[in-house]
Amino acid sequence: MLTQNENDMLTRVGAGTPMGELFRRFWMPAMLTEEIPGADCTPVRVKLLGENLVAFRDTDGKPGLIDAYCPHRGAPLFFGRNEESGLRCVYHGWKFDVEGNCVDLPNSPEGETYKDKVNIASYPAIDKGGIVWVYMGPKDLKPAFPAFKWTELPESHRFMQKLVINCNYFQSMEGDLDASHGFYLHSTLDGNKNNQSLKIRGNTSVDPSPRYILKDTDYGLLMGAVRSQPDGDMYMGITHWMLPAFTTPGASPKVLQMNIRVPMDDEYTAHYRIRYDLNDPLSDQELNEDKYGGFLFPEVIPGTFTPKANKSNDYLVDRVMQKNFNYTGIKSFPIQDLALIEDQWAPVSPRTGEHLVSADTAIIRVRQTILKAARDLMEGTEPAAAQNAQAYGVLPSRMVLPAKSSDDDIATALEPHTIPQA
Ligand code: FES
Ligand SMILES: [Fe+2]
Repeated sequence: MLTQNENDMLTRVGAGTPMGELFRRFWMPAMLTEEIPGADCTPVRVKLLGENLVAFRDTDGKPGLIDAYCPHRGAPLFFGRNEESGLRCVYHGWKFDVEGNCVDLPNSPEGETYKDKVNIASYPAIDKGGIVWVYMGPKDLKPAFPAFKWTELPESHRFMQKLVINCNYFQSMEGDLDASHGFYLHSTLDGNKNNQSLKIRGNTSVDPSPRYILKDTDYGLLMGAVRSQPDGDMYMGITHWMLPAFTTPGASPKVLQMNIRVPMDDEYTAHYRIRYDLNDPLSDQELNEDKYGGFLFPEVIPGTFTPKANKSNDYLVDRVMQKNFNYTGIKSFPIQDLALIEDQWAPVSPRTGEHLVSADTAIIRVRQTILKAARDLMEGTEPAAAQNAQAYGVLPSRMVLPAKSSDDDIATALEPHTIPQA
C-alpha cells in the first residue's frame, strides 16, 4: 500500500512532476514508424507525458516532434503544410523545421530577422526497430540509445502492436510484475491443458502460487518467478523490469517479448507489445497467429489503436464462454488484462485500499525503486540507468532447477542473460 503522496508521485507524469522528469531522462516510443511513413508526410498529433505535440518527417525523411501549437498565436500545427523541410502553420505561414527553428516568418516585414528569435518546443527523434523514439529531457543529458536487441533486427524478425489504453501506465505495467495472475486470469477451464498463453511461454507448471526471487540491477530489477513442476523440479521464469517502463514478460525459448508503457498523460497509456525472433524471420504460423489469430494481439477498431473489445462494451465478455471454456469469458489475452487494469478502482488507481501479499513482492520492489529514482532526481542525482545503454541488452529466459532447491541456490542461479537460453 502506498500513501496518497507516494501514489501521486508514482502516477503523475506531466512536466515538472518527479515521475514526469524521470521519464524525460529516457528514450521512449513516440509512435510507430508507419504512422509517419515517409518524407513530407501528413503531420500526426501525439500526446506524450501530458504534452500535446505534432510529429512529422521533413523532406529528408528526418522525424521530428514539435509543440502542437504555433508560437505566433497558438494555432494548431496539426493543420500545417508539411513542405520543403518544415511544417508551415496555415494561419499566417510561419514555418518550423524538425529541430524547432523558425525558418520562415513571411507575414511581417521584420520576419526576416525576428524569425531567428522565435523557437518552438521540439524534441529529438530517431527511427529504431519500427518505432519513432523521442527524448524529452535536457539536451545536454541526451543518452545513447538503449541496447534493446530487437531494435537491431530486420523487420521480418518482429511483430508489434500499439494499443491506446485508458489507465495510468503503472497499473498497466504491474501486470508484468505479477506472476500469479496468469494461472487465474489467463487460464482455461481444463486445468490449463489447452492454455495457449502458458504453452506459448513453454511453461507446463500448474503451481498456482509462484514465489519471486528478486535482484536489483543496473537497469532495474531481475525477477525469477519460481514454480513447482508436477515432477517436483522447479521452473524459474526470468524476466526484467527496466527503468522506467520496459518489461520482458515470460517468453518461449525462441520468440521473445517486450512490453513498453508510454504515459500519454496520467490516464492514458500507449502500450507497445513486441514479439521477436533473434535468429530467424518469424514463422508463417507465428505471423498468422499474431496478425489474424485474435488471441495474442486483439483486433482494433480500424484507423485507431483502440481494441474492439474495450471498456465501453465490457470487453465483449461472454458469460457462456466463461462458464464453459475459460476463466474470464474474454477472448483475447491482452484484453483479459485490460478488463481488470483499466478500472482498478479508477483509471489512476488510488492504491490506498490495497491488501498486498507475498505474491506482490515484485510490484512492491519496483514501486520502491522507481519512487527512489524519482526522489533522487528531484534532489539532483541523475538516474544512472539512463546513461547505461548497454545494460538494456538483457533477455527474458528460463531455467529448470532441481527439486528442493533452497532460496539461496535459486538466487545464485538467477542471473541476467544476454543470449537466448534454450
Ligand atoms: S498562429 Fe501560426 S502563423 Fe500565426
Ligand atoms: Fe496478464
